[in-house]
Amino acid sequence: MEEIVVGIDVGTTKVCTLVGRVEDASALHILGVGIEPSNGIKKGIIVDLEAASRAIVRSVERAEQSSGIEIASALVSIAGAHVSSINSRGVVGISGEIVDEYDVLRVLEAARSVAIPHSREVIHIVQRGFSIDGQDGIRTPIGMHGYKLEVETHIITASTATVDNLRQCLGAAGVEVQQFVLNPLASAEAVLTANERQMGAAVCDIGGGTTDMAIYVDGKVWHTMVLAVGGNHVTSDIAHGLRLSIAQAEDIKLQQGYAIRAEVGAEDYFNIRPFGEDNDVQINKQELAHIIEARVEEIFELSLQEIKRSGYDGLLPA
Ligand SMILES: Nc1ncnc2c1ncn2[C@@H]1O[C@H](COP(=O)(O)OP(=O)(O)OP(=O)(O)O)[C@@H](O)[C@H]1O
Ligand SMILES: [Mg+2]
Repeated sequence: MEEIVVGIDVGTTKVCTLVGRVEDASALHILGVGIEPSNGIKKGIIVDLEAASRAIVRSVERAEQSSGIEIASALVSIAGAHVSSINSRGVVGISGEIVDEYDVLRVLEAARSVAIPHSREVIHIVQRGFSIDGQDGIRTPIGMHGYKLEVETHIITASTATVDNLRQCLGAAGVEVQQFVLNPLASAEAVLTANERQMGAAVCDIGGGTTDMAIYVDGKVWHTMVLAVGGNHVTSDIAHGLRLSIAQAEDIKLQQGYAIRAEVGAEDYFNIRPFGEDNDVQINKQELAHIIEARVEEIFELSLQEIKRSGYDGLLPA
């Protein structure tokens, strides 16, 4: 039977729905796409249920039209500063001296049993590796001999209220959430090669309202985080700095913007008519680049601080 998968990314600036058919274990054939501007979402969090729902409906309808497939359920991305992650270790005695499925379930349960407050929901439990009687680096322990089974996990949790809002929005759009997927993990899945993940790499996705990061070491995810800054901050800095509307600021960012001031000539100017004015004003491109550079530097600085804070900064050659 052919398997159809649907993914919905509810972003700060756009809602993107993809319909794909699984061709074999590693390939996905895209059947339909629906990308629509989003509304009611700030920094990855829903702030207006109805507006967000309407944006999701539009995106889902587009994808249904282009794929000819009716969407009833989907994998849905999740991001925002309400997401947090912890590393947790589980330990159990192996019941029959040979590890079976039940032992694996029990050890994962033990890792999961760290105190998670009621206000938080577990989104992912990433298994990073097992060890048996102190022997590390075991990927699939079932069938192996030993007395003590341990697992190292990365547990990702999100605020229950925020998750419920997202679920409700999708429900109103007629879509049931099959599973939530943390944005940084989805980004890493898309852009990192297996080799890079093995060598150690950080992936950083700068979106509109959030910057998603994931750190891979030894092929497994060790750290994930979502920073509440993104490209929209660059736009609002431009709007404030040059007294333009947000739409104008976004336009000139895309048309005239540079993130490195030194790459722009000091005498480069362009014209724009600010909202409500009768005449064009002249803007210096270096001045614009200066505003962009300051914010982009800050985003990179914060990302770097996060990598350092994770303690894995020395382990990322890729
Ligand atoms: N060519 C470009 N140069 C600079 N910035 C760009 C360009 N194209 C898009 N952007 C910026 O990227 C941001 C949107 O990124 P993206 O579509 O990944 O966000 P999103 O997934 O909707 O948001 P989030 O992941 O934060 O919820 C906007 O701030 C937009 O201005
Ligand atoms: Mg995004």
